[in-house]
Amino acid sequence: MSKNAEALTSKVQQLAGDTPVRIGLILGSGLGHIADSVEGVAIPYAELQGFPHTSVSGHNPNLVIGDLEGVRVAVFGGRAHYYESGQADVMRLPLEVLRGLGADTLIVTNAAGSLQPDMPTGSIMCLSDHINFSGRNPLIGEPTDTRFVPMTDAYDPTLRTKLREAASDASVEMANGVYAWYSGPSFETPAEIRAIATLGADAVGMSTVPEVILARFLGMKTAAISTITNMAAGMSDEAISHEHTKAMAPIGAAKLEKVLRQFLRDLN
Ligand code: HPA
Repeated sequence: MSKNAEALTSKVQQLAGDTPVRIGLILGSGLGHIADSVEGVAIPYAELQGFPHTSVSGHNPNLVIGDLEGVRVAVFGGRAHYYESGQADVMRLPLEVLRGLGADTLIVTNAAGSLQPDMPTGSIMCLSDHINFSGRNPLIGEPTDTRFVPMTDAYDPTLRTKLREAASDASVEMANGVYAWYSGPSFETPAEIRAIATLGADAVGMSTVPEVILARFLGMKTAAISTITNMAAGMSDEAISHEHTKAMAPIGAAKLEKVLRQFLRDLN
């Protein structure tokens, strides 16, 4: 761990206590309110030197440490995206701190466009795998051999089974599929969507993949769930915009929250 990550881990432990964190959660669009129901301490990213300044509206840049459904969690209320700075490793320091706090599991959430006609707006999808369509990688420049991270089963099969069981217990329908990372910030063209459909993508978005690569690099198990906010470009007559994404996110977000809470309850 970098010296900066060690110092920040100590600072967070001084502010929030040193009970080990079990699970890290990155909240995507429409899910920020989950951080408010954590019983614990909220630390603005601005107080954590080196944490990214996310500029995306709809995100809430606090690290919240505490209990959710009786499980010690660290919740990232907002994430920084590659498209904000051109740095694919922008979430490395926050994830190093998460690891330093004791978490061995990261659950990532995001908003995504659907490439599957039977996965409409308002659906949720558990990621079974991803396609890095951006060509970027957060480990470029990492000087040690630890950079050669295996990405087979990056979306941990046991975690996925538990999430599926949680969805079933919570009576929430959850699809399974492959997520393609597109750099953004422009949305995709219909031709790009047809291309990634041919490659096997079921959903597309502008986040998650770099965080999952970093989490695997740091030795954490990972899982991820998308809330579908729109049909991908060219898939429907619906207009695609950030405003529309934010407006639609709460529909899937309510389902995702039920699954997450059930998953956490089942851990106890
Ligand atoms: N494309 C990329 N990112 C997204 C989309 C999309 O259609 N919807 C929500 N995030």
